Amino acid sequence: MRLLGIDHPILQSGMGGVAGSALTAAVSNAGALGILAGHGITPGELTDEIDNVRRLTGGPFGINVLLPQDLIEPSAPSPDLAAHVNAAINPLRQEVGLSTVSGLPKEPAPEVLEKVEIILRAQPAVFSIGLGDPGPDLVERCHRLGIKVVAMATSIPDALALEESGVDAVVIQGAEAGGHRSHFAKPDDRNYGQVGSMVLIPEAVDALRIPVIAAGGITDGRGLVAALALGASAVMIGTRFIATAESLADDAYKQAVLDAQSSETTITDVASGRYARMIRNRFTDGYGDAPTLPFGWQCSAVSELFERSRELEDSQHVALWAGQSAGRVHEIQSAESVIQSIVAEATEVSARIRVRNP
Ligand SMILES: Cc1cc2nc3c(=O)[nH]c(=O)nc-3n(C[C@H](O)[C@H](O)[C@H](O)COP(=O)(O)O)c2cc1C
Repeated sequence: MRLLGIDHPILQSGMGGVAGSALTAAVSNAGALGILAGHGITPGELTDEIDNVRRLTGGPFGINVLLPQDLIEPSAPSPDLAAHVNAAINPLRQEVGLSTVSGLPKEPAPEVLEKVEIILRAQPAVFSIGLGDPGPDLVERCHRLGIKVVAMATSIPDALALEESGVDAVVIQGAEAGGHRSHFAKPDDRNYGQVGSMVLIPEAVDALRIPVIAAGGITDGRGLVAALALGASAVMIGTRFIATAESLADDAYKQAVLDAQSSETTITDVASGRYARMIRNRFTDGYGDAPTLPFGWQCSAVSELFERSRELEDSQHVALWAGQSAGRVHEIQSAESVIQSIVAEATEVSARIRVRNP
């Protein structure tokens, strides 16, 4: 993709807890665009990780943050709501040997805007944004620094708003996608806007004047060719990269992705307060439909449970963020071999497609 200075039209999503410097650099070294995750780490860690990427690759790379208003200015929840959340979490805590909790969890640090400034100072090739509209002023600041802006939307109205803000390309996120649904504000209904990539990609391509990058459900060369045929200029892939050698995911998480069927994910707000797709497990089922705290606060409420689950190498009491395409991931490969095989298969598939019967 010429716009982003890469050989292959593939972006690896800047996935919190998965995309550290090793994965980002490996993807960029393989001729695609590696994107470092800024979510889930402190501003100091982000600065260190940017330095690490630069040590590992001379190629272009991106940096991602989630930019929704409720993370920029987290609103304090009521003690009453916290009591309902604790009632849902406490039995799960006890199952992994943790004591029960009461009251509000630790207040989340409102550090998103600090991370934005770190990213601007670092001047990566691409600033990648999820869950929010950066607005024209921030886009303009990026452009003055030579940074391209790529932001993600789940709907045509949100995609048009991003285009209006001046972003360079819109990532259109189909309902198959793993991780957070890139809604700018939390919808009332978890089923809101669940449109699959097959419909959403051409709809976005027809509605927008700027390039569209397809995200959701793509793992191989066939998916890449399909997205390009639907009019996308490139693809953004997340789930496929969880089970790579360079990913930050621990072994239990990688194994859960390898084991999952495509039908075994769910969209739920229990891990962060915002809707996201993850593999169903004891955590998602046990928490059920109980209420959640606002974004940031809910992450804080579940963090000790998740840490304990990871210590126990248990994949049942933790969020296993992943898309439906987990059902298509069968082995752990290096990031380079994932990209090489996608490109080789796409080349082969596109050469043998026939519209008419021979
Ligand atoms: C484990 C995981 C973590 C994610 N974290 C982020 C994130 O921090 N920021 C972001 O913009 N998108 C994030 N996403 C969403 C991706 O940007 C993208 O929409 C999605 O992975 C594409 O669909 P796929 O998972 O089917 O490939 C994440 C996705 C996954 C699977």
